[in-house]
Amino acid sequence: MRILAIETSFDEAGLAIVEYSQESDSTNIEVLSDTLFSQAEAHVEYGGVYPSLAKQVHAKNLTSLFAQTLKDADLHKEGSSNFPEEIKEILKREPEMFEELKKLLSEIQKPEIDRIAITKGPGLEPALWVGISFAKALSLAWDIPLSPVNHMEGHVAAALAKKTEEGFLVTPPNSPSLALLISGAHTELVLMKEYLQYERIGSTRDDAVGESFDKTARLLGLPYPGGPKISKLASLAREEGLDNPYTLPRPMINSDDYDFSLSGLKTAVRNLVEEIGEPTEEQKKQIAREFEDSVTEVLISKTKKAIEEYGIRSLIVSGGVAANSYIKEKLNALTKEYENVDFYIPTPDLSTDNGRMIAFASAIKDSPIEENVVAEGNLKLY
Ligand code: KG4
Ligand code: ZN
Repeated sequence: MRILAIETSFDEAGLAIVEYSQESDSTNIEVLSDTLFSQAEAHVEYGGVYPSLAKQVHAKNLTSLFAQTLKDADLHKEGSSNFPEEIKEILKREPEMFEELKKLLSEIQKPEIDRIAITKGPGLEPALWVGISFAKALSLAWDIPLSPVNHMEGHVAAALAKKTEEGFLVTPPNSPSLALLISGAHTELVLMKEYLQYERIGSTRDDAVGESFDKTARLLGLPYPGGPKISKLASLAREEGLDNPYTLPRPMINSDDYDFSLSGLKTAVRNLVEEIGEPTEEQKKQIAREFEDSVTEVLISKTKKAIEEYGIRSLIVSGGVAANSYIKEKLNALTKEYENVDFYIPTPDLSTDNGRMIAFASAIKDSPIEENVVAEGNLKLY
């Protein structure tokens, strides 16, 4: 089976074409092509992702990204394709994309693709809709079924995918497993008593972990997305052995539940920066380290509690913040404290949003066909 996956839930457009086969519960996946367009630069001046801009940039780029994805997979074959009238209605809000797609489809044949996996949510609805409309147009032109995918399940699938010589292999982790999903928009602890069956045990009450990194970065005068920049400064503070003159709170670290609240941490950083006035480069490193320590301690504490309470056998960490090497190292060390807890985390290129993760999620569960896909900004896993 061959899948084309399209992801436009936030500020990255990710497309991938994969081929997969299943043997009992295991899924073998070969990646034929994988393209990514990050808009981060377009959003720098807003200090965060600006939804209607995200939508416009996706609409502008999708057709050429798609053509590139086909070429890379050797599926861009000269010829011509159907272009049913209804596509005009589907793309009525995106006249430019309509014209570009019409031109592309007049130049190429239908590629050998069995299913189009499309991110349905969660995410920014205007951004999601661009991808969904594009996918619907392709589905109609080529009579290829559409299958909606939950973006968060994409993050889970990316963590479970083990690199092999030919591609990736996904096998069910030992149950029960715990997923810690940490991204720019989400902070969730999810329990999987069985493979791909989800139960919520905790989530953020306000800022997501990535959001908190990004807001702290902004307070230190660092551009969006600030996560990697804070992480760099914090590791410099550790490498240089700087002392630690500041104390930030560890919000909800001892609370009785699995919820998080990080907005107070950002406020504490704001107060600290105001107190200092203009932080020097050295002070920025010290603040970044104290901030990263605080977030890491809170994540470790909640994760540890859940591992013990639920007798967890596999810890799955995923989402953009899983690219953070300090957090990764500490969570890995946590799992080593137990005899029987396996640790799953994607490589950094699979941690942040991308097209492969959506293809993987669609492959591992043979995601169902649904022609009338609707964007759902708050789509849940459970
Ligand atoms: O999963 P993702 O690409 O997009 C969402 O679905 O939200 O996550 C992006 C988030 C951003 O907030 C970014 O700052 C954060 O992940 N991030 C990091 C690192 N790399 C990306 N945060 C901390 N350390 C990093 N190395
Ligand atoms: Zn994400």
